[in-house]
Amino acid sequence: MVVLGTGGTIAGIAQTPADNVHYSAAQIGVQQLLDAVPALAGESLEAEQVAQLDSKDMDYDVWLKLAQRIEFHLRRDDVAGVVVTHGTDTLEETAYFLQRVLAPRKPVVFTAAMRPANAMLRDGPQNLFDAVGVARIDCAQGVVAVLAGAVHGALDVRKVHSYRVDAFGSGDAGVLGRIEEGHLRRLRDWPSGTPIGLDRLGLDVTAWPLVEIITGHAGVGGALVQAAIGQGVRGLIVAGPGNGSVHHKLEAALRFAQQRGLLIWRCTRCADGPVFDEPGVPFASAGSLTPVQARIEMLLTLLTAPD
Ligand code: SIN
Repeated sequence: MVVLGTGGTIAGIAQTPADNVHYSAAQIGVQQLLDAVPALAGESLEAEQVAQLDSKDMDYDVWLKLAQRIEFHLRRDDVAGVVVTHGTDTLEETAYFLQRVLAPRKPVVFTAAMRPANAMLRDGPQNLFDAVGVARIDCAQGVVAVLAGAVHGALDVRKVHSYRVDAFGSGDAGVLGRIEEGHLRRLRDWPSGTPIGLDRLGLDVTAWPLVEIITGHAGVGGALVQAAIGQGVRGLIVAGPGNGSVHHKLEAALRFAQQRGLLIWRCTRCADGPVFDEPGVPFASAGSLTPVQARIEMLLTLLTAPD
């Protein structure tokens, strides 16, 4: 088993063990995280530090490097699965991207923590232990996230709370399973699908198209849409209220952008639920995707579109 480290609060250090907010993420290495879990002593675990960052600063270079290292290790006959330690803040984006691009036939298990590594009651060691256990399950496959005793599929997982230790949900889909005394009670299928493939994305991330998210709200106008057009943005996700509804002023600006070739999809800014097409509204619905998932999906669509 290989454990890839990317930073996050799980590798963070606070000035005092009682402070769960003012700390620095990404301070200790992935080998140290493993050494801090006595129950993993004696296991054959290979640690590799792919990045060391607060996941708010995640970028496409790290996504690509992570995808390449995962692909490399999963090709090895002696590797049953890969665990990735990550920050909680953008875990759902990295996990979604990797599932869509690699759709691995072996398990890739993300884990993280809401409390730093030196917190009084830290959640990292248990989460890491559970993640290794899930990555070892024979029939497991796809990208999943293991946090606070729950297993989430990469296409559903989302951070739903800014502070609670139990900070993740799977929306309407529900969790993939629960870990009870080291055993997985599985409730849904493992993630599957056809991989897009890394080779189709292009390795020069500076050439990747700009795709941005705009939120609909009272009093919204077209200023951000105009700015996006000026900056060469290729696609916009509109996180509108309710059924991804679009304010008439924003709609006028979006129609203008669409005429100039920008791709525009509608999502909801509600926590859960799908968005349906609306008669007379010329912007496609992104279905059940959250705004950040839809942004990645649009990025992949643009990257893989024939010239
Ligand atoms: C991060 O996302 O890297 C910091 C926050 C966290 O991991 O909870």
